[in-house]
Amino acid sequence: MSAHQVQLDFLKEEGIPETMKSHVADLRKQIQHHDQRYYDEAAPEIADRDYDLLYRELVELEKKYTTLIVDDSPTQRVKERSQGFLSAAHLVPMQSLDNTYSEEEVIEFMKRLQKLLPGEEVLLTLEPKIDGVAIALLYEDGKLVRGLTRGDGTMGDDVTRNIKTISEIPHQLHGKIPKLLEVRGEVYLSKKMFAQLNEERDEAGLPAFANPRNAAAGSLKQLDPAIVKERQLSAIFYGNGACEGSALKTQLELIDSLRQWGLPTHETTWRASTSEEALQGIRELGKIRHDYVFETDGAVLKVDQLAQRDRLGSTSKAPRWAIAFKYEPERAETRLLDITVQVGRTGILTPVAELEPVVVAGSRVARATLHNEEEILRKDLRIGDCVMIEKAGEVIPAVVRVLQEKRTGEERHFKMPTNCPVCHAAVIKKEGEVAIRCSNVSCPAQLQRQIEYFASRRAMDIAGLGEAVVVQLVDAGLLKSVADLYALRAEQLLPLERMGEKSVENLLQSIDQSRGRPFWRLLVALGIPHVGVTGARTLAEHFHTMQRLQLASVDEFLAIEEVGEIMAKSIHDWLRELKSIELLQQLHETGVHFGEKDIHTSSGEGVLQGTTWVLTGTLSQSRDEIAELIRQAGGKISSSVSAKTTYLLAGEEAGSKLERAKKLKVRVIDEAEFWKILRGA
Ligand code: IVH
Repeated sequence: MSAHQVQLDFLKEEGIPETMKSHVADLRKQIQHHDQRYYDEAAPEIADRDYDLLYRELVELEKKYTTLIVDDSPTQRVKERSQGFLSAAHLVPMQSLDNTYSEEEVIEFMKRLQKLLPGEEVLLTLEPKIDGVAIALLYEDGKLVRGLTRGDGTMGDDVTRNIKTISEIPHQLHGKIPKLLEVRGEVYLSKKMFAQLNEERDEAGLPAFANPRNAAAGSLKQLDPAIVKERQLSAIFYGNGACEGSALKTQLELIDSLRQWGLPTHETTWRASTSEEALQGIRELGKIRHDYVFETDGAVLKVDQLAQRDRLGSTSKAPRWAIAFKYEPERAETRLLDITVQVGRTGILTPVAELEPVVVAGSRVARATLHNEEEILRKDLRIGDCVMIEKAGEVIPAVVRVLQEKRTGEERHFKMPTNCPVCHAAVIKKEGEVAIRCSNVSCPAQLQRQIEYFASRRAMDIAGLGEAVVVQLVDAGLLKSVADLYALRAEQLLPLERMGEKSVENLLQSIDQSRGRPFWRLLVALGIPHVGVTGARTLAEHFHTMQRLQLASVDEFLAIEEVGEIMAKSIHDWLRELKSIELLQQLHETGVHFGEKDIHTSSGEGVLQGTTWVLTGTLSQSRDEIAELIRQAGGKISSSVSAKTTYLLAGEEAGSKLERAKKLKVRVIDEAEFWKILRGA
C-alpha cells in the first residue's frame, strides 16, 4: 500500500461515524459467534436466512467502508476444518452457490445469462436444494477410494470411513463407468431419522440438533464410524468434479449416468428456458418439497449444457451458471400459553411449549419441545410471550425466538420443577449433563414410556399396545415392569376402555408372539443407553445369546469394529446394574427368547425377502457389512452353499464355495449384479 493510499484511507475512515464502526464490529462478533455454533458445534441458534442477512449486511458495509475490513473479518476467512480428520485436496475445487431470496433475483439471473450468451438458447434444469452436507466422492475404475467434505472448497476433511457406512453409497460402480470420477452431492439425514435421532438425544440428555443438516454434519464429524452407521445417513448426487473417460454433455445426461452407475440421484423434473418457466418450477417445487424424505430449503437452477457452463465460468465464489433460490422458512407467530414438563423413558424431564394453535407448513401446531432448561434461558422464553415458531416439513416444530417488542411485562419466568410432575419424587442432575431426571426408578411415567418403547415397531413390535392402552395398564397397576406384559390375562384387559373381546385377543396374541422375536429386537427393546437398532444387531451378531453378552468384558465389546467406547461401556455397565439383572431374570422366566436360534434370520422386510445368500471371495467391503445390508433388505445369510441357497455372491478369488455352487446350479452373481438386485433394479 502506498503512502498516498494510506492517507486517503485515513481520510475515508475519518468520515465514518463511530456508531457505524461499532455496528460493523458488532456484526462481525455476531457472525463469528454464529459461525462457531454452526461449524464447531453443529448447533446454530439462528436460521440460515437470518445468518445470510447478517453476512450480506457486513459485506455491503465493508464494500462501502473498505478501511473497516480487518484480516480476521468473517468475510475474509477461509472456513476452518474440523479436528481429527486428515485433509486432502479436491481434484477440482468445490464451489458454492449464490443464494437468492426473491423472484426478482431469479429474473435478473436469467437476464444475465441471456447477456452472457447472446442469441443462444439456454435451457435450465431445476432441482431441489437438499439440505444436507456437501460431499465429494472419488471413484477410481469404479471403486470408491475417498470421500471428502467440502472444507474450504480446495481442501476437505477425509471422511471416507464414515461415508462407507452409508448403505446407499455404492463402494463399486457398475456399467460403463469413467476411469476416474469425482462425484458430488449431499449427505443428508431423512426427516424421519432426524426426528428419531432427536428423540433419542433428548432421552439421553444430549442437546437436540436444530435441523437435519446440522445432524448430518454432526454425524459425519463423528470420529467413530459405528455412530455414523447408527445414524442411518442417506445421500443424493447431482454433480461432478473431475471426470475422465466419459463424455458428458448435459446435466440431464449426468444425472442419468450417475443413476446407471448405481449412485442415488433425484429426478430433475423441471426444465426452464424463460424466467416465467423458472419461477413456475420454483413455485411448484415449493409446494411438493414437503413430501420429500429429505429437507429442502431451496431450488437450484442450473444451465443444462456443460459447454455453455464453460463459457459462463465463475466468480471467485460461485459459478455463473447456477443459482440457489431459497424458500421462506415456514414460520408463524403465536403465543406461548404455558410450559409443561414431560417425563421420558429414562426419567429425563423435558419442557414442552404449549402454544396457541397455529397452522404452519400445512399442519396445526400446538406444542413444541423446548429440549431443556438451558434452551429456555438462552432464548429468554417467558410464559405469555409472543413467539416465532418454525416448522420444516415433518420435522418437530421449534420455537425460534421471542418477539421481545411485543412483551407487555405480564410474562412469567419458568423454572424447572424440583420434583417429578408425575410421581413427585425429587429430581436429580447428573454431573456434566444438562438434563434433569426423576430420581424414582418406579416412576409410573418412566414405566409407561419404557413399555411404549419396548413394544414399539423398531423394538419388540407388539401391535395394539399403543399409548392409550399402556396408560390404562400402568394406572390400573397391572404393569410394574415390561416383563409383566407376558403375565397379562384377558379378564384383566376386558374392563379397560375401548378393549373389546377381539382387541384383547389380538393384543394377547401379539404379546405372546413377541416372545420369539429376534434377539437384536430384545436388545433394542431393553432401552440400553447408546444401543440403537444397528448397535443391537451388531451385538446380536457377535454374541448370539444374552448369556454371552452378560459375560463379555469391555475389551471384548471394543474388539468389534463397529462398537465404540461409549457404547461398550454403556452396555457393560447396564448389564451389571441390579435393576437390569432382575428385569432380565423376569423376562427369561416368562419365556422371552434370549438368542441363538435367530442368528442369520432376516427381519422379514425388504427387497431380498425370501432369499438366502452365501458370500465368498474378496468383496469391496467387509463381508459383515454386506451381510448386514442383505439382512436389512430381508435376506438370510448362510455360511455354506446348499440347494436352498438362492445366490452365491462371489468376489475375487472365490474358491470352493464357487465350485460347489456351480455343481448345485446355484445362481452365482458378482458385486455389480448384487447392487442392482439390492436396489430393486
Ligand atoms: S449444485 C458449484 N445442486 O447447496 C456448486 N448443490 O448453497 C454446485 N446443494 O454447495 C452445486 N442441493 O452443497 C447443487 N441439487 C443441488 C444441491 C446443491 C444441495 C448444496 C451444495 C452446494 C450448496 C450451495
